[in-house]
Amino acid sequence: MQFSSQTAQVGEVGEICRAMADEVEALIKGKAAGGEKVVLGLATGSTPLPFYHELIRRHREEGLSFQNVVSFNLDEYEGLGRDHERSYWAEMWQNLFDHVDIDPGNVSVPPSIFEDAEAAAAGYEAAIREAGGIDWQLLGIGGEGHIGFNEKGSGEESRTRRITLARKTIEDAAPAFGGEENVPTHAITMGVATILEARRIVLMARGASKREIVLRAMSGEVGPEVPASFLQNHGNVGWFLDNDAAGS
Ligand code: PGA
Repeated sequence: MQFSSQTAQVGEVGEICRAMADEVEALIKGKAAGGEKVVLGLATGSTPLPFYHELIRRHREEGLSFQNVVSFNLDEYEGLGRDHERSYWAEMWQNLFDHVDIDPGNVSVPPSIFEDAEAAAAGYEAAIREAGGIDWQLLGIGGEGHIGFNEKGSGEESRTRRITLARKTIEDAAPAFGGEENVPTHAITMGVATILEARRIVLMARGASKREIVLRAMSGEVGPEVPASFLQNHGNVGWFLDNDAAGS
């Protein structure tokens, strides 16, 4: 079923980042006013960096506080400790958490080192549930349509789990790791169903290289061939696209 409550916002990168930050700021302040916490689902990759810069700017210059923010990241490479500079844990601290006043105890990234993948994944799902579920989930999109590390073939019912990274994902990550042979082969990712439980989903895409996959995700056939297409089945998705990704 397709819902009509999907919106697309297209503009310069700065513009779409400000619009996204407006949503987060309103959520943080609204919840803070009621003494409540807000649960954000966050993403790594190059796409959200200017958005994180905007959040940091609002913290520094306008006093936006993250003290009532609880965050859950989408995914993590298997086997990289938190001190590994390419771990998503480390990236999130470098790019956002170190620069705002979030309580370190409120930050969660899926475990990268575990003995029992199923137990680790179940524990992550339980933590999200215990926090009350995700209010606002940020997503990037991979070149083949993954969200989190839900690679091609991931179903709508998939939950947090260990996954084998796609060839394309490994190729895309190779420069950051100094060669394909250094890229982890597995990861732990929130599932498609886990993501779809978020009350609001914001997918951000930048650059002409994302144009075709964004189009397929937004208006192509819904199915595991393009996992991001399952967003069409969610009632509250915002697509935030720069002019290049939107082809305008
Ligand atoms: P990118 O990755 O932001 O580095 O393009 C997006 C993704 O793979 O989800």
